[in-house]
Amino acid sequence: MPTLEDLRAEHPEIRSDFTIDQHWERYTPGEHGVWRTLFERQSKVLPGRACSEFLDGLKRLELVPDQIPDFERASDKLEKITGWRTVAVPSLVPDDIFFDHLANKRFPVGQFIRRADQLDYIEEPDVFHDFFGHVPMLAHPVFADYMQAYGKGGQRALTEFGMLKNLARLYWYTVEFGLIENGEGLRIYGSGIVSSRAESIYSVESPSPNRIYFDLERVMRTDYRIDDFQESYFVIRSFDDLFAATYQDFAPLYARLRSGGTYKPGDVLSTDRVQTRGTHTYVGGSHAA
Ligand code: PHE
Ligand code: FE
Repeated sequence: MPTLEDLRAEHPEIRSDFTIDQHWERYTPGEHGVWRTLFERQSKVLPGRACSEFLDGLKRLELVPDQIPDFERASDKLEKITGWRTVAVPSLVPDDIFFDHLANKRFPVGQFIRRADQLDYIEEPDVFHDFFGHVPMLAHPVFADYMQAYGKGGQRALTEFGMLKNLARLYWYTVEFGLIENGEGLRIYGSGIVSSRAESIYSVESPSPNRIYFDLERVMRTDYRIDDFQESYFVIRSFDDLFAATYQDFAPLYARLRSGGTYKPGDVLSTDRVQTRGTHTYVGGSHAA
């Protein structure tokens, strides 16, 4: 993770909270073109796959294919809906800085956009992942509250409990790679999925991954893969349920998590409530031949 001093070389105006000016006027036509390509691809793939809360958020924020959003203008709209704003950052920011932004209803968005030869995979989150992927859900009041609570919880996990690794798994399996099953069917709400064409299809249609109903402690014991499609997704039934499950003091949970096991990304447990068992997972692994 680069320090503030490292980043100052490229972004002389960077502030101590790692924010920079978006400088919207500096995006080139080619960069707006990358946004358009990605936006149009996802507009084809997401109806019927992304949850209505995400699709509604896209509409309400008036995100359009033509141009990378202007953070100030989009934030003025978002602020009227849930009180959140976005701030521009060079790339990933340190954990304490990230949590402070979330706790104060500011979502940090990578200012840059990926190159045209990196449409399907980037290592650091760019404006397409961060804005298109995350910001629409911040227009949903319950999800927006969840994100703020996560920010406050992150500060506690970091400074009081030393349990960031466990809490980060919750973020991964909900905010980034969450699925929801409600009256519409099985739908995507995770930002890491909605900003990826291939995983948008894979996550809801492939027989390969496990889809397991969400359980807080189970999720916080489960490692994740950052370099491939997920082997397991965790499925919530509603955003109210997710909020209710997490809006409680985590101190007793952290105490439990200090002992007991960690699960691998592909594990299926006898205690899991399984929505779909993946085709590549062999439970128990013992074949009585
Ligand atoms: N309730 C958690 C705690 O006590 C904070 C939290 C809320 C974390 C919602 C994630 C999501 O630390
Ligand atoms: Fe993300």
